[in-house]
Amino acid sequence: MVILKIEHVSKRFGNLDALRDVSLEVEQGEAVAIIGSSGSGKSTLLRCVNNLERVGSGKITIDGDVLVDTAGGVAQYPPEKEIRRICTKTGIVFQHFNLFPHLTCLENIMIAPVQVLRRSKENVRREALDLLDVVGLSSKAQSYPAQLSGGQKQRVAIARALAMHPQIMLFDEPTSALDPETTNEVIATIQKLVAQKTTMLIVTHDMRFARESATRVLFMDEGRILEENTPQQLFEHPQNPRLQAFLQSVRS
Ligand SMILES: Nc1ncnc2c1ncn2[C@@H]1O[C@H](COP(=O)(O)OP(=O)(O)OP(=O)(O)O)[C@@H](O)[C@H]1O
Ligand SMILES: [Mg+2]
Repeated sequence: MVILKIEHVSKRFGNLDALRDVSLEVEQGEAVAIIGSSGSGKSTLLRCVNNLERVGSGKITIDGDVLVDTAGGVAQYPPEKEIRRICTKTGIVFQHFNLFPHLTCLENIMIAPVQVLRRSKENVRREALDLLDVVGLSSKAQSYPAQLSGGQKQRVAIARALAMHPQIMLFDEPTSALDPETTNEVIATIQKLVAQKTTMLIVTHDMRFARESATRVLFMDEGRILEENTPQQLFEHPQNPRLQAFLQSVRS
């Protein structure tokens, strides 16, 4: 089953083509990594899926619901309320953790399911404690974000996104603000989600992570997807010269 379908999406910032005719499908249970040099459009693509940016043209379908479609060259979005409903099907984790500083870890995880989904506090609490266990932070339920390391904060951010039961998790460089040791904790958590067949789209600068964790890897360059393949094929037999050059530059 296709969870995310992106068809011919283009996006400009002024005169700059940030996305050029990008098409992509993510099937249920896939963990798709996006690699590419700085400015190639990776974050913009994720932000369009989560409606933090609006596309110029193209179509995005999330779990069967159309977030945007284009008619007569103009991108058409449904009413705000419908957009919000569709966007609850995606969970996003950024480079910086964006936790609420005045709430404990447990409260950070519980707030959206209780306030947005109107679920019962008791059920949400039980589930939030389970999620803290999944990310290895059961002992930190009552701690505040300021009392946690960067890697711990990022794992709370992952649990918080999972608490909304998204159909797809979007990660934008979840480890690039972390030191090597805490990076490994976060990678281990994401790998656990891969093993549980959580559907994910992961932007990363970490080639080892893309290679070892993703089921498929996409290479973006100047707003286009230039190549996609299994991690093994893409890293061992890159076809496009720009991908070959990119892999050289990150290896040296
Ligand atoms: N809000 C914005 N206004 C104007 N230009 C923008 C905006 N956001 C992104 N851009 C431009 O769009 C292009 C794609 O940016 P994007 O952030 O998607 O790149 P990226 O691949 O995520 O890069 P990085 O690896 O550095 O995070 C860049 O040239 C960037 O400068
Ligand atoms: Mg980015």
